[in-house]
Amino acid sequence: MLNLGNKVIYQIYPKSFYDSNNDGIGDLRGIINKIDYISKLNVDMIWFNPFFVSPQNDNGYDIADYYNIDPKFGTMADFEDLVVALKKINVGVMLDMVLNHCSTEHEWFQKALAGNQKYQKYFYLRPAKKDGSLPTNWQSKFGGPAWEKFGKTDLYYLHLYDKTQADLDWHNPDVRKEAASVVNFWRSKGVQGFRFDVINVTGKNEQLVDSEDPIQEKSLYTDTPVVHEYLKELNQSSFGKDPESITVGEMSSTSISNCIEYSHPEQNELSMVFTFHHLKVDYQNGEKWSKTPFDFKKLKHLFIEWQTQMDHGGGWNALFWNNHDQPWALNRFGDPVHYRVKSAEMLATAIHLMRGTPYIYMGEEIGMTDPNYQSIHDYVDIESLNAYRKLLAKGLSSEDAFELIQTKSRDNSRVPMHWDNSLNAGFSQNKPWLRPTGQDVINVKDELEHGEIFNYYQKLISMRKTEKLISAGHFKSLFENDPQVFAYERYLKNNGQENQDQILVLTNFYGKKTTVDLPRAYQDKAVKTLISNYNLDATKLAKKIELRPYEALAVKFK
Ligand code: GLC
Ligand code: CA
Repeated sequence: MLNLGNKVIYQIYPKSFYDSNNDGIGDLRGIINKIDYISKLNVDMIWFNPFFVSPQNDNGYDIADYYNIDPKFGTMADFEDLVVALKKINVGVMLDMVLNHCSTEHEWFQKALAGNQKYQKYFYLRPAKKDGSLPTNWQSKFGGPAWEKFGKTDLYYLHLYDKTQADLDWHNPDVRKEAASVVNFWRSKGVQGFRFDVINVTGKNEQLVDSEDPIQEKSLYTDTPVVHEYLKELNQSSFGKDPESITVGEMSSTSISNCIEYSHPEQNELSMVFTFHHLKVDYQNGEKWSKTPFDFKKLKHLFIEWQTQMDHGGGWNALFWNNHDQPWALNRFGDPVHYRVKSAEMLATAIHLMRGTPYIYMGEEIGMTDPNYQSIHDYVDIESLNAYRKLLAKGLSSEDAFELIQTKSRDNSRVPMHWDNSLNAGFSQNKPWLRPTGQDVINVKDELEHGEIFNYYQKLISMRKTEKLISAGHFKSLFENDPQVFAYERYLKNNGQENQDQILVLTNFYGKKTTVDLPRAYQDKAVKTLISNYNLDATKLAKKIELRPYEALAVKFK
């Protein structure tokens, strides 16, 4: 079986990586031009956000043609060259399959609109209620009702996201065949990795009913039993034919038991899951558009719960802090002002040494931070702009609403990669689609010349490849009630022997010193330091260990 534990995946947001033809938008050639940089990291696979034909209302998550490259990003020939170039450095390709919905510009939707019965069955089309109100009271995840008028008919179509992203009806076997054929097409191009966008909301009921409240509403279409059937079928009819394939499902508002089922090798669904509970610990009462310090105890508790239970159940997690939908973790959980380097390294340690497959979002390896925008006009993301309008309508002052956008916008991490400290951060000779800021302080060139974060990531990646305790060990938490330290052990049972191999990981999540009292079992034992962001080289552990601001340390017991 494929070893998922020694893999590390890098995420590239093509629109923002590198612009080769100076139109302000990153492209596939740009990625090929930066192959040397990519090869330095020694990752196994790259997940690319969608670059298929799309009107880009939701930055490519609104796909109008699953089989072609959007000319903004290049051509099929560019894509084929990219696959070859990556193969030369032993890096696989993971594509983003957005199959819960398609763009309303897709020919399926257009044919449906023109009255074609076959294609009308691809979507959730429903009449208004008797009283003339919308088919259900569901809300779109991007704000506003989840229903939109279907052309000039009396029907409405369902869209859980933007109104230009129409939900596909997976009950229809033809839709599921289309999904498999998209996956198989890209497999025939040499692609072995697939990320399935919001895949756990594909199991809506045939009878759609009103929800009682926003929380219960999600349960009407999330993690329903039929999703497991869909995934088993898709696995069998596409990627499952390739024993080397790696798949990850993006699971919105999910549960551990479902995630075990989605990712257990014997279930033949997916290789692993992205889950988001740990990235909601700075939401006030579950509300994203709020500003509050992160709840460290909750974060720890969630990590511990997911790590141990997924381990016991035989599931497998993707490990990550950042992606194109999240503001930078460094701004949320670290201190980008006083301890940018140390806190970036500490966060990386905490994630990379857990059980699962780590994902690194481009720019994370140089410690990029949220842009310093001062005007709402700098933002382009549809979700952010909708939220801004909604917040103003709710009565917030423009300053307060803007502050929430600054803190939470998805554009924070979508800013073009900072390659050097020139005007457009070396990303493009032309005005970039989203404005970089702060490249004089944080950029690839300086980082490679005299930074330490990039080296630190290289080390974490190589440790996963050489250290079985990291790739295959079990997880056990330590100091669960410590208000400042997240610590865990990774261990492997030594064929029934008393002595087991183990690694101890200690991370200080705050900018002040603290000490932990080590349990007797650890004291005075010979250890080897695997990694330390303060260049500590411990060979023995004392009873008390002092951890400096954002210190991270991993040792292996000999
Ligand atoms: C996922 C994507 C996000 C997109 C949404 C709708 O959450 O990561 O960027 O907006 O799905 O496709
Ligand atoms: Ca370009």
